[in-house]
Amino acid sequence: MRERIAGMPGGEGSEYDIYPRDLVSPYRERRFQVGEDLYRCLGIPRENKRARMAQFANNFTFFGAPLALFCTVDRRMGPPQWSDLGMYLQTVMLLLREHGLDSCAQECWAIYPETISGFLAIPPERMLFTGMAIGYEDAQAPVNQLRATRAPLAEFTEFIGI
Ligand SMILES: Cc1cc2nc3c(=O)[nH]c(=O)nc-3n(C[C@H](O)[C@H](O)[C@H](O)COP(=O)(O)O)c2cc1C
Repeated sequence: MRERIAGMPGGEGSEYDIYPRDLVSPYRERRFQVGEDLYRCLGIPRENKRARMAQFANNFTFFGAPLALFCTVDRRMGPPQWSDLGMYLQTVMLLLREHGLDSCAQECWAIYPETISGFLAIPPERMLFTGMAIGYEDAQAPVNQLRATRAPLAEFTEFIGI
């Protein structure tokens, strides 16, 4: 991955849109905010593109985690089954917590589909969805002080009484 990132820092082209091409409000602002909050935690200013790139590159060593999983999806499946995958992955993440392990889902791996599919011999009918780093959180690390801002409940929920 070190070689791939150096030669192709933008990736090989993901097989699905990790985000919609024109992310609209309020998602656009939320995505921007969590990114800014992350880099603030790390003390990396906006102008320091090199440090931001280096931090992004840490994804590809699984942030130092000793274990990882990759999740693929049968190409014949549609959005409802992709949502099943999300539930499945969250269940894995919760079970990991139960066993004292921490994890970080990493969709960034999807920008190197050829490399990962080749390395893992993923059959052609399956598409790489995401990677996930698994290990033990360094609770002292600045990056782990980040608590993503949550939209207030009323912003995305409507309770309808009958
Ligand atoms: C499907 C999915 C993909 C993600 N991909 C990445 C990633 O590629 N790199 C990364 O650092 N974090 C990734 N994350 C982790 C989010 O950045 C993390 O969840 C976020 O910082 C906010 O934390 P929260 O889970 O408390 O909201 C991903 C999370 C999910 C659910």
